[in-house]
Amino acid sequence: MSEIIGVIGSGTMGNGIGQVAARAGYTVVMRDVNDEFLERGISAIDKSLQRDVDKERLSTEEKQSIIGRIKTTTELEALRDASFVIEAVTENLAVKTEVFKALDRITPPATILASNTSSISITRLGAATSRPDKVIGMHFMNPVPVMKLVEVIRGMATSSETYNKVRELTDKLGKTALDCNDSPGFVSNRVLMPMINEAVFTLYEGVATRESIDGIMKLGMNHPMGPLALADFIGLDVCLAILNVLYDGFGDPKYRACPLLKRYVDAGWLGRKTGRGFYEY
Ligand SMILES: NC(=O)c1ccc[n+]([C@@H]2O[C@H](COP(=O)([O-])OP(=O)(O)OC[C@H]3O[C@@H](n4cnc5c(N)ncnc54)[C@H](O)[C@@H]3O)[C@@H](O)[C@H]2O)c1
Repeated sequence: MSEIIGVIGSGTMGNGIGQVAARAGYTVVMRDVNDEFLERGISAIDKSLQRDVDKERLSTEEKQSIIGRIKTTTELEALRDASFVIEAVTENLAVKTEVFKALDRITPPATILASNTSSISITRLGAATSRPDKVIGMHFMNPVPVMKLVEVIRGMATSSETYNKVRELTDKLGKTALDCNDSPGFVSNRVLMPMINEAVFTLYEGVATRESIDGIMKLGMNHPMGPLALADFIGLDVCLAILNVLYDGFGDPKYRACPLLKRYVDAGWLGRKTGRGFYEY
């Protein structure tokens, strides 16, 4: 069997990471809290690979063998033989801390534990384990199979050995690693989220319609997608969680989440994944 990569969480990011790792030849063990979420994850992978089959970029046999390399489980113990584990669970410090503590107990001491967190401190996640030198951030972008970047974040205690192995893994996954120090929101979300939040404020204040706001940013700034459509794509709950991390981390009111964003999250209108966000899907 090829080297094993564990993926925790089979949601938007987890299933994307699982797909990319299996496509690069790794055996993937993907863990979520119940079978329904796992089935949804596998079905998303199937659909995404099928698009490549339809475009003749992948054969049906290759697709089957990629999916065949992905084992799903609800048991954390199944991660026992993984050399890397990439965590992609809900953006919540308490949930992630529990996952890291459990992974620290279950996996061999040499296993590298990476988090795909968008904003939570890698240093804090590392401190929850007995191996902070082997804890690192691997921040993939959405959709994972398409986007080239992995923001690689070293915590205070992350060793150079861990960092080098993760750079190597990123190369093998066909992605480009760019470095960043551990700071709230890293670079990507510290720059992106205030823009999205400001777009929500312009909608909230009635400055323009959702179509105008997105159209202005697309046509005027050459962005491939408007900020409101992008927020729907990322998930409005994820956006809110990241803004809260920035707000708490810097103690600066400029990161205050727009009340309209909070209201959408309260309503369960989380964007594409729930069929409704700033747009309907
Ligand atoms: N959505 C994006 O655009 C994006 C981009 C980059 C990074 N991220 C980050 O990736 C992570 C996951 O985000 P997502 O958008 O995939 O969220 P999601 O809600 O689509 O998926 C999260 C999954 O984690 C599962 N989960 C929760 N607790 C778990 C546990 N203890 N063990 C196993 N599985 C568990 C949930 O059941 C769910 O299936 C977050 O940290 C987020 O900030 C998201």
